[in-house]
Amino acid sequence: MKNAVNATNELEKDIVGVVYSVDEIQAMVQKVGKQLSRDYAGKNPLLVVVLKGSVVFAADLMRALTIACEVDFITVSSYVGTQSSGTINVIHDLRTDISGRDVIIVEDIVDSGLTLSKLKELLLQRNPASLKICALLDKPSGRKVELAADYAGDEVGDKFIVGYGLDYNEKYRNLPYIGVLKN
Ligand code: IMP
Ligand code: MG
Repeated sequence: MKNAVNATNELEKDIVGVVYSVDEIQAMVQKVGKQLSRDYAGKNPLLVVVLKGSVVFAADLMRALTIACEVDFITVSSYVGTQSSGTINVIHDLRTDISGRDVIIVEDIVDSGLTLSKLKELLLQRNPASLKICALLDKPSGRKVELAADYAGDEVGDKFIVGYGLDYNEKYRNLPYIGVLKN
C-alpha cells in the first residue's frame, strides 16, 4: 500500500492509504476492456451491472469496449440464511430478456463469492447463450464457495477497501481512487 493520503477534503480525511490510484484503476479497466473487446467481437454482449457498487466501474468499462454492447442493471439483496443454502432476493430485476444472449456480469469485487454464485444460478435458469463474470477486483482470500471471476482487473489482499463504487455503510462510493479506511 502506498503512503498515507494528504487529506484534502471530508472524504479523504478517513482514508489512510491508497490501494489503487486513479491511473492504476484506469489501467485495469483498459486491460479488461481489451480482453472483452477481443473475446466478444461481433457478439453484442449484455453487461449486467450489479448495483450499486459496480456502477462506477461499469460506466468506465463500457467506454473501454470497442465493440457493440448493451447494458442493464440488477439489484440483489445479500444472501440470507446459511452460506450454502442461502438465496438472494432480487430487489430490482433486469428489463432485458437474456435468453440466447451473451451475458457478462459486471461486479465491483468478488469476496466470499456467495452473491455471485447465487446470481449466476438465477441467470442461468433464464438460458443465456453464455454467462461470464467480470470483476474489477478479486479477493480470493475471502472465498466461501468455489467461484472464479472470468475477467478481473487485479487480485487484492484481505483488507476492506472503499472508493470507486465500493462503500462502507453507503459512504465513499464517490472517492475517485480505492483506499483503506481509518479504523
Ligand atoms: P460476496 O462475494 O458475496 O461476499 O459479496 C461481494 C460484495 O461485498 C461486493 O460486491 C461488495 O459490495 C462487498 N464487498 C466485499 N469486499 C468489500 C470491500 O473490501 N469493500 C467494500 N465492499 C466489499
Ligand atoms: Mg456489491
